Amino acid sequence: MSASNKLIIFDTTLRDGEQSPGASMTKDEKIRIARQLERLKVDVIEAGFAAASQGDFESIHAIAGIIKDATVCSLSRANDRDISRAAEALAPAARKRIHTFIATSPLHMEKKLRMTPDQVFEQATQAVRFARNFTDDVEFSPEDGSRSDVDFLCRVIESVIKEGATTINFADTVGYGVPELYGQMLRTLRERIPNSDKAVWSVHCHNDLGMAVANSLAGVMIGGARQVECTINGLGERAGNTALEEVVMALRTRHDHFKLDVGIDISQIVATSRLVSQITGFAVQPNKSVVGANAFAHASGIHQDGVLKARDTYEIMRAEDVGWAANKIVLGKLSGRNAFKQRLEELGISLESEGEVNAAFARFKELADRKSEIFDEDIMALVSDEAQSHENEFYQFVSLSQHSETGEKPSAKVVFSIEGKEASCTGEGNGPVDAIVNAIESKTASGAELLLFSVNAITTGTQSQGEVTMRLSKAGRIVNGVGADLDIVVASAKAYLSALNKLHSKVEKLNPQL
Ligand code: KIV
Ligand code: ZN
Repeated sequence: MSASNKLIIFDTTLRDGEQSPGASMTKDEKIRIARQLERLKVDVIEAGFAAASQGDFESIHAIAGIIKDATVCSLSRANDRDISRAAEALAPAARKRIHTFIATSPLHMEKKLRMTPDQVFEQATQAVRFARNFTDDVEFSPEDGSRSDVDFLCRVIESVIKEGATTINFADTVGYGVPELYGQMLRTLRERIPNSDKAVWSVHCHNDLGMAVANSLAGVMIGGARQVECTINGLGERAGNTALEEVVMALRTRHDHFKLDVGIDISQIVATSRLVSQITGFAVQPNKSVVGANAFAHASGIHQDGVLKARDTYEIMRAEDVGWAANKIVLGKLSGRNAFKQRLEELGISLESEGEVNAAFARFKELADRKSEIFDEDIMALVSDEAQSHENEFYQFVSLSQHSETGEKPSAKVVFSIEGKEASCTGEGNGPVDAIVNAIESKTASGAELLLFSVNAITTGTQSQGEVTMRLSKAGRIVNGVGADLDIVVASAKAYLSALNKLHSKVEKLNPQL
């Protein structure tokens, strides 16, 4: 790959993606996603925003110590404290990048920062100078860049490149851009800034008008960007960010047009999408490009007939190339620990200790007793469940009995532990899920509001495990809990307790946009 034909894929699922309401992740969850991103072969992993919280700092530090191939990056506002914190968190990384930003649009400078353009210019320049003390790899983002004044942007960017910024990330922070204008604005900046060739130009687009991918590609084709910032499943603030899988498959499928190469191992795309969806509780819509359940399904007779005669009549990509393997039975009741461990490795799941493998294997055996065929998706859900029950020890599900009968009010008895002490509670409700929530609330009195309840079948058929997501809100915080089980009422109880655990963990975070 020649340098100018190579497009850098910068993944920000763990930072901008995590800014989706309810998508906050624990350190262990972030590490699992970072490992999978490395298998996907992204070039840069933005692991978090070190100064935002102690939890973010520790996650970045841990990821920096584990990831070998990709560059690990931390976001930081344009001040010494944030930058030092980012540098400290990144210290163990084989390759590290500090990504510093400050808003440059008149609206943001005046109303949000309450700073003059000259002050912003100074702060941006000093921040990059300071960041260069810790690493040669410094990225600068003019936040709300697409709504900024071009003359002012030229002044700021020329100065930060002089100070040693190696990547300039042109941010469409509020998803206001349209492809031609966004691409053209980037091109103008590159043409007008005398030292623009000393930095790699990057695009960072939000999807408020549904154009994040189109804007990113216009930034590449019209503007000459050679880095795309994106997230798995397009996760991100509000309507999300540019979806990695869409950009990558557009570049591959229409290589005739784009003539650019990426280093991504596309066979890992579906596994990565599933992992992120399972961990965050953000289900992927069925008609989502590339990773949606219907992305390769043909329902109309004419299409089916065409595909059977010649696949490329209606298919522009091959499902198996991006990692779709239709419900392969992989293990069963008689499978041993070694077969289970090997399948975990093949799925790219690395459990840290033998103790964790044993616990996951015990759960697998329990499941195999109740379900004759175990699929890859079951194993992934099982490991997710296992990870949750280890980390968040405050509430742990133990057992459940539930009664529903036509004409009677459903009732439930839930047993769970609170800091290791078993508690039993009963409740009634309008339906079985309402009954278990009322039962749990009778003990925990969290007072949280249930914003979303969704059930997904993990595989096909009535034997499938159900995966339940419950989104709770309390005092301005929104969290998602996920639970999986063959019995969807049990899955609901697990999901509710998992969400309560997240509320209980009281992670305080700074919003990077403030
Ligand atoms: O959207 C945005 O402007 C950002 C920056 C911090 C790069 O996420
Ligand atoms: Zn963003």
